[in-house]
Amino acid sequence: MQLRGVRIAGVARHAPARIVTNEDFERWLDTSDEWITTRTGMKRRHWAADDEATSDLAIVAARGALARAGLRPDDIDCFVVATATPDYIFPATACIVAAKLGAVGKPAFDISIACSGFIYGLTVASGLVRSGVYRRVLLVGAETLSKITNKDDRSTAILFGDGAGAVVLEACDADADSFLSAELGADGSSPETLFQEAGGSRRPFDHAAVDAGLGYIQMEGREVFKFAVTSMVAATDVALAKAELTRHDINFLIPHQANRRIIDAAVRVLEVPPEKVLVNIQEYGNTSSASIPMALAEAVEAGRVQDGDVVLFVGFGAGLSWGAVVWRWSALRSVA
Ligand code: COA
Repeated sequence: MQLRGVRIAGVARHAPARIVTNEDFERWLDTSDEWITTRTGMKRRHWAADDEATSDLAIVAARGALARAGLRPDDIDCFVVATATPDYIFPATACIVAAKLGAVGKPAFDISIACSGFIYGLTVASGLVRSGVYRRVLLVGAETLSKITNKDDRSTAILFGDGAGAVVLEACDADADSFLSAELGADGSSPETLFQEAGGSRRPFDHAAVDAGLGYIQMEGREVFKFAVTSMVAATDVALAKAELTRHDINFLIPHQANRRIIDAAVRVLEVPPEKVLVNIQEYGNTSSASIPMALAEAVEAGRVQDGDVVLFVGFGAGLSWGAVVWRWSALRSVA
């Protein structure tokens, strides 16, 4: 099969209006701005309103990415949403997003791999374009983690935020291909390291599950922390090797925003200068599969990625799972 190239034609982000600061938590939790800032780097996060679901955030980001690409929903051949907090367990949130955009009839599906969602989604969606199955794919990473976070548990409540980031992927000439390589992985031998216990087939929701708080995110924070740094560095090195590049070839790094200390530790090992790393965790907290596309949108808006830059996307999350994509940035078309 003849492979063609893929590029990002548009990117945009959206966060809900409600902002929760570290000081806000001090009012009902035994915590402090000082603890949260030094342990996580977070200052604020955005939480969806009671009547706001993941698809509502996804649609705003999707419309923004389409506008930046100068395209209409009709121009998209396939809709993909990466999320761990879908509107419903089924149907897929992507079906709802496509319908609300007015693209009824187009294929639409979700990717469920938690915080690695955008990295997996970018790999799958790029594959669909490069193999010629679809010409344009809209990929959204969108989450409302606040809906499944126990606000009274100080070890998790402070960490998570809501938001959405969207990219329009489109076919281009093979010699202008942005997708240089990917390295994905998963180890599901201890799912309880980071999980939402109830609501699935192993532990369906009932009153007892709700009373025990099993619908909320549970996490072994220290275990996740250790795994995060190792897996990010390892995935990066393998992805770079596949692309026949080295750590020094990275022009810009967009890591999953889970903890400032995790990012700093990984960046130190990879020897990427801090000015080449996008960190916005202070504003959004951990938005899971939305964090990387939101950060990309911010980097593009700020002119921090240039035509031809080697951009590394790297992340990790529940599964456990991890992944890195090496991407050659190609400037967006300017849309009048
Ligand atoms: N405010 C004040 N104290 C807190 C607190 C908070 N919000 N949360 C936890 N603590 C306390 C703990 O109860 C513990 O107290 P103890 O020593 O009396 O038992 C102490 O702080 C240290 O807890 P620990 O869990 O060792 O802290 P840490 O330095 O590992 O930081 C995390 C905790 C959660 C910030 C950190 O482990 C982390 O970020 N892990 C990765 C999580 C992650 O990224 N998850 C998503 C992956 S996609």
